[in-house]
Amino acid sequence: MVTEQSVDIRGRRQRWLEAGAGWPVVLLHAFPLSADMWRPQLERIPDGWRFIAPDLLGFGPVQDLSSSSGGRITMEDYARGVGDFLDGLEIDTAIIGGLSMGGYVTFAMFRLAPERFTGAILADTRAEADTAEGRAGRAKMRDVLAERGAAAIADQMVPKLLSEGARRDQPDLVAWVRRTIEAQPAAALEGALAAMMGRPDSRADLRRMKVPTLVIVGEADEITPPEVATEMQQRLTRAQLVTIPGAGHLSNLEAPDAFSRALDDFLLAHI
Ligand code: MLT
Repeated sequence: MVTEQSVDIRGRRQRWLEAGAGWPVVLLHAFPLSADMWRPQLERIPDGWRFIAPDLLGFGPVQDLSSSSGGRITMEDYARGVGDFLDGLEIDTAIIGGLSMGGYVTFAMFRLAPERFTGAILADTRAEADTAEGRAGRAKMRDVLAERGAAAIADQMVPKLLSEGARRDQPDLVAWVRRTIEAQPAAALEGALAAMMGRPDSRADLRRMKVPTLVIVGEADEITPPEVATEMQQRLTRAQLVTIPGAGHLSNLEAPDAFSRALDDFLLAHI
């Protein structure tokens, strides 16, 4: 059973979803979504594991950016937020991972506290920083957000987040992704755009990540395509790469069974 809980941490309300009991696996969400994107994985949790999916700072239904540094958020702020949350749950070590921006936060967490990691999951993400072109695109998106709000971000992001096949064949998923984007506070979206623009190159961290790592990617991911995942796997020392046939960037939502199977196999085989 998936439970939704919240707690006050350093003056802000932290919401998270959780299921199962046993060794902890922390799952960090993508931009511009919330912890709810992990529900399909939390609903079919393998025996002996506890999956925990927190909202990143400012995202989700509990909205408070007061603890962020002057409105300007960095990946390290998100990482510290997750670290404080895990401390609150008295979880010292875990398998930690995320999808896309959740992966960027995973790298930031690794830089801050590598000793927390017993394994890592890097799904549909990349280690490189933004290119100049990427940063310019995010600056434009920030303007669009200021002028037209989260619905306009959904217009731009849905075609990139979901494959053509999913947009054609999974109308409920398309509607869910759009609704979830529109429900995010503008301050959270703005903060995340700044954090992603400013994030450092994490490729050196890949060499230092010696824990078992699952690299997972949708075959039709256009934001972080399979070649990016292959390159990450090659830089890591103990990584396994799984490609999810036909899935786009939100591979865990487009192909939840295949994604969860890959996760189960990784947890069983490598930990
Ligand atoms: C995400 O899915 O988290 C974002 O698309 C990542 C990005 O824009 O770099």
